[in-house]
Amino acid sequence: MYCCRSLLLNFLVYLCAFSVHAAINGKSSVNLNHLEHIDADAVDQIRSKPKTHEGLGGFEPGDVAPAFKVQTLDGVFVYPPQKESRSALIVHAFTNKSAFLECLWTWNESLTDLLDYLPSSVQVLFLSLDETAASDAVWMREQLYSATAHRSKEIMSRLHFSPVPVYALGNWIPRVLYSWGCGGHNCGLAQVVFTSPDWSIPVISKRLNARYDWLNSRWGADPYRLLDAGDGCKPDAFIKGAVAWISEGGCSVFTKIKNMAESNATGVLVYAFPGNPIRDMNCLGDECSTSLNIPASMVHIEPSVMQALRSGRIVNVTFQITPSPNFFIGIDQQGALSEMGWFLYPTFRFIAWQAQWFVFNEGLQERLKRPSSVVPVFNRSLMQGEMGARALVNLPKDFLDYDILELEASLSCPGRRDETCAHWDHTVQLYVCCDQSSPYCNTEMGRWITAFRRGTGHWLTDVSSLIPLLNNATCAFNMKTVPWAMPWMVSLNLRFSRSNQSGNSSKRLYPFNVMSLFSGGTFDKDYNNRYQEIKFTPPVSTKKVELYAVITAHGYDENFCGEFCVTSHHFLINRHINNTLIFDTAGSPLGCATRVPEGAVPNEHGTWLYGRGGWCDGLQVDPWRTDITAQLDMGGTNTILYFGLFEGRDPNPKTDPGYIIMYSYLVYYK
Ligand SMILES: *[C@@H]1O[C@H](CO)[C@@H](O)[C@H](O)[C@H]1NC(C)=O
Ligand SMILES: *[C@@H]1O[C@H](CO)[C@@H](O)[C@H](O)[C@H]1NC(C)=O
Ligand SMILES: *[C@@H]1O[C@H](CO)[C@@H](O)[C@H](O)[C@H]1NC(C)=O
Ligand SMILES: *[C@@H]1O[C@H](CO)[C@@H](O)[C@H](O)[C@H]1NC(C)=O
Ligand SMILES: *[C@@H]1O[C@H](CO)[C@@H](O)[C@H](O)[C@H]1NC(C)=O
Ligand SMILES: *[C@@H]1O[C@H](CO)[C@@H](O)[C@H](O)[C@H]1NC(C)=O
Ligand SMILES: *[C@@H]1O[C@H](CO)[C@@H](O)[C@H](O)[C@H]1NC(C)=O
Ligand SMILES: *[C@@H]1O[C@H](CO)[C@@H](O)[C@H](O)[C@H]1NC(C)=O
Ligand SMILES: *[C@@H]1O[C@H](CO)[C@@H](O)[C@H](O)[C@H]1NC(C)=O
Repeated sequence: MYCCRSLLLNFLVYLCAFSVHAAINGKSSVNLNHLEHIDADAVDQIRSKPKTHEGLGGFEPGDVAPAFKVQTLDGVFVYPPQKESRSALIVHAFTNKSAFLECLWTWNESLTDLLDYLPSSVQVLFLSLDETAASDAVWMREQLYSATAHRSKEIMSRLHFSPVPVYALGNWIPRVLYSWGCGGHNCGLAQVVFTSPDWSIPVISKRLNARYDWLNSRWGADPYRLLDAGDGCKPDAFIKGAVAWISEGGCSVFTKIKNMAESNATGVLVYAFPGNPIRDMNCLGDECSTSLNIPASMVHIEPSVMQALRSGRIVNVTFQITPSPNFFIGIDQQGALSEMGWFLYPTFRFIAWQAQWFVFNEGLQERLKRPSSVVPVFNRSLMQGEMGARALVNLPKDFLDYDILELEASLSCPGRRDETCAHWDHTVQLYVCCDQSSPYCNTEMGRWITAFRRGTGHWLTDVSSLIPLLNNATCAFNMKTVPWAMPWMVSLNLRFSRSNQSGNSSKRLYPFNVMSLFSGGTFDKDYNNRYQEIKFTPPVSTKKVELYAVITAHGYDENFCGEFCVTSHHFLINRHINNTLIFDTAGSPLGCATRVPEGAVPNEHGTWLYGRGGWCDGLQVDPWRTDITAQLDMGGTNTILYFGLFEGRDPNPKTDPGYIIMYSYLVYYK
């Protein structure tokens, strides 16, 4: 297990609270109708709304970014760049009024994340929202330059720092920053408000909350009493019922917060010593296996608060968020404006992930230019409720001449902004039925997981092995997710093409038959007892046999199985050859973030970064294909048996077992 358990536990508790809420809402038909209503209106608005840049809010994600020039410390930055016309650009507007941004710019790991992970084809323009823009630009450049240390300084030529404040740019950029609302950390100023009976005005200070997936608690709206608790390195019963005001240093932030939680404090404010920056408060190593249920934030030291507390005055504290312009805009290689998603914690790695996705998308656009016979199935069709999205499609007459079939799918939102996107990471399945009398009518042909509140997902999945499912000229397609999910707009094309086998078409093999094997089920102690050996003889003229499986693990027992635990899936052939698929990154902290270059949608809400059992938020589920021809007696009888294990053993959960969604086939080629 790489990932701290309490970290997951906290998130799951949080997730459960929301799921229950969502399920209750989902059951209410009034609510569903309401959603459909909103959705229909939103779609109408989008279809009828002319693209205009007149008036505030005229720019939407997907619109083309107009050309602009900005003065920088080194000269003038011109967009689009004259030479490298296909480079993407990230625009970041800094303000030191945000503790999140202060930490983003002072934490060494955040700075080195930008240097180490920003793709080489991407440039960044740094701006400041404040009147101190000139000194901010010099400071930002210095922060990054120092962080390069022994690294190559090449990256500095792709980073541009403007001394002109955003409010004086004189171009369209402020309009986008001011009008693209956002939630979470990408804008908005999180603050604490201190009051004391002796003061005529409150003291208002920026704050950075501890990571929400680490501490399972949020600040309430009512005032809290604030009491000084020294450095918090020892429990102190006196703090009971109040928010503890404690200094940094002396022991880990985890120890401080744990001590205050044990002392029954209602919350913790850790202050930085004068001159020190606000830091990201997180647990380290073994600390993370203890769950803490208390809110905590970091602030700068406030001398007036210190003085009032030390002289025994009453100080109360409340928590607020003041709206602000957006801090980030993306422009992809095609010149389209893009939102940057949600930053879970203050590191430039989130900028790098969005930039990596731009690079993935650029590659995808290239792949889509390859010649193929395209059959449209859905074009921004509404997917919602029990019905999902449905379409009846005529296949091209010559489709059996192709040996490659790819699904080009995208999931977008009712509106153009991510704020209109559905919550949660739900499983989406595509079913096909061509011949109604066939046992393969309504078989799963593709599987994806929705991107939690982001509408940019676009994937190309090779499902060539399933061409035999298309056994009639007319096929019915049905794409759906859980009926209570908020609406998605789905697009789907079937793309038929021919593989290149070094130009020798006689080397091409065509799948002509599939044989259904095992399906999944509840991942409990009886899981493996349900499977029995299947006997099979490859049809005459078979040249190749492939094992094809689509497996994902979901749910969470006390071991967080199957979503966040390491499961393995074995297909035993002729009782001795083990074909094994292991979900070894399930539960690892960045297991899904490292798949952004493969198309996992970056910067989603929730904990999209963690590895999962065979899937990631905002990604297609890749079919697992293994050529087993050499393992078989092609002329005789063979056997195959499936079993699934948790950390190498039969599953044996004590609480709510998880479940495995599986389709598996033998595919015969000739
Ligand atoms: C940002 O603000 C903090 C305190 O509010 C201050 O110590 C720091 O010097 C400021 N940084 C910049 C670059 O202005
Ligand atoms: C960041 O600074 C800390 C403390 O100085 C140091 O231990 C750590 O190695 C640094 N990390 C990086 C990525 O430079
Ligand atoms: C200060 O906070 C305490 C504890 O929540 C509350 O009872 C009291 O009313 C607050 N005082 C003011 C002036 O808000
Ligand atoms: C904190 O609250 C718990 C539960 O009410 C109690 O058992 C414990 O003694 C309290 N601890 C302190 C230090 O007040
Ligand atoms: C999808 O529909 C839009 C407008 O409704 C149309 O412009 C576009 O060409 C369609 N795309 C495909 C692939 O048919
Ligand atoms: C093939 O599709 C046509 C058109 O939908 C349908 O009428 C026919 O019944 C289908 N054939 C089979 C065998 O399902
Ligand atoms: C297909 O194969 C031929 C012959 O080997 C080669 O010249 C050509 O570049 C290949 N085409 C693609 C698209 O890979
Ligand atoms: C193509 O492959 C077949 C079967 O391997 C072989 O007989 C034939 O000579 C090949 N043709 C070319 C042009 O390479
Ligand atoms: C197949 O692999 C699993 C897991 O490593 C192991 O438990 C099992 O004994 C293996 N079976 C055979 C026949 O090798």
